[in-house]
Amino acid sequence: MSLDIVILAAGQGTRMRSALPKVLHPIAGQSMLAHVLQTARSLKPASIQVVIGHGAELVREQLAAADVSFVVQSEQLGTGHAVAQAIPHLKAENTLVLYGDVPLIEGATLESLLTHLSADSMALLTVNLTNPAGYGRIVRNQANAVQAIVEHKDASPEQLKICEGNTGILAVPRQRLIDWLGRLSNSNAQGEYYLTDIIAMAVADDLRVATETASDAMEVQGANDRLQLSELERHYQQRAARRLMAQGVTLLDPVRFDLRGEVSVGRDVLIDINVILEGKVEIADNVSIGPNCVIKDSILRAGAVIKANSHLEGADVGEGADCGPFARLRPGTVLAARAHVGNFVELKNTRLGEGAKAGHLTYLGDSDIGARSNIGAGTITCNYDGANKFKTVMGEDVFIGSNSSLVAPLNLGDGSTTGAGSTITADVPAHALAVGRGRQRNLENWPRPKKR
Ligand code: UD1
Ligand code: CA
Repeated sequence: MSLDIVILAAGQGTRMRSALPKVLHPIAGQSMLAHVLQTARSLKPASIQVVIGHGAELVREQLAAADVSFVVQSEQLGTGHAVAQAIPHLKAENTLVLYGDVPLIEGATLESLLTHLSADSMALLTVNLTNPAGYGRIVRNQANAVQAIVEHKDASPEQLKICEGNTGILAVPRQRLIDWLGRLSNSNAQGEYYLTDIIAMAVADDLRVATETASDAMEVQGANDRLQLSELERHYQQRAARRLMAQGVTLLDPVRFDLRGEVSVGRDVLIDINVILEGKVEIADNVSIGPNCVIKDSILRAGAVIKANSHLEGADVGEGADCGPFARLRPGTVLAARAHVGNFVELKNTRLGEGAKAGHLTYLGDSDIGARSNIGAGTITCNYDGANKFKTVMGEDVFIGSNSSLVAPLNLGDGSTTGAGSTITADVPAHALAVGRGRQRNLENWPRPKKR
């Protein structure tokens, strides 16, 4: 079966009260439309047509991709009119309609929906609601066969009692769709061309309207305002937390965990409260992450320990290495196995060798630090002269005294030492001690100044 997917995304989203087009509002750090596109792609369609209107340029700019086509609907005359804009680009046997503001729809649900499609049947996704206000109602006959969808504003008091609502998601043989869309009228309560009117046309043409019912109303919920957006966000996060726990992760509080990207996890991972994972994060076996950490695009290898309030981006934390509390690992940080980074330490584009330590109050930038070296408290690599950046290279077993300024470019040989408080501007040979500071003088019996 070949399939084109049409995603409706032209609406303004007035109730968002936002300059941003509705479908660009994020769920879990990604626009709603991006979520729908990801799910659409999972079905391997022949094409994806996104119908845009409000904020069209911005939407196109943010979501342009080789496998996505955009169709502009310059006036929003209704969902039927919106789908009709895509007709010239539809080539496959069947068409599936999705919505840019219904972000949590899952591939598996759509796959079961599509099993109902054939040359003489179309497929409609419905949802049972306790409060169906606003939804189109599914009208069935005595034999329980779908007869029509009636929009809330056009429904009779009897029809308003129906609790089976239209999700809007449907799949139709393309030729039929083109025929029906061409016959839509806008003589209804809203003066719109309703996509939902094709259901009665299908029935009149002796097509079977097969339904699939969404098991979870949130999966087909649209976001019309910020409250609904937040509800969808929480639902997404709950789903993500459950998945991780099913994979063997301990989340000390699943309600205080946020995933804004993708994560892969090993066994016996422990995640404390208020942890945010962003981008692409890989977590191996026995990793533990303390409370209030933000971890973005990073790899945490087996047994790594990230202590409270640490911020990691683009970091590779080696086996058994640890950092924090209050560590900041910036892009290009590599901690080799069992390296240790303590509190108030910032690393950028720096490799800390196996078992090396930077325990306190330190900035290491553009550095390569050998195994077992020890960086004293308050050490700063002066890697930037205001125009260019320079590298600091340290061998193994180097000992940097506290409060040293290492003015790059600099090489410190194996086993070298710097005295505390030194400003080191020249290379240090292996096993040498470098002292770069004023020598101490003691002035005996020195009279302190007195207040005049
Ligand atoms: C629609 C359905 C209703 C269903 C409900 C589910 C119709 C006529 N009604 O109603 O049966 O229960 O969704 O949420 O289809 N859009 C466009 N261009 C347009 C009009 C709409 O792109 O000209 C997009 C909107 O941006 C939105 C979606 O289509 O993403 C739905 O449109 P909306 O006007 O919100 O339809 P509802 O009245 O909610
Ligand atoms: Ca709507």
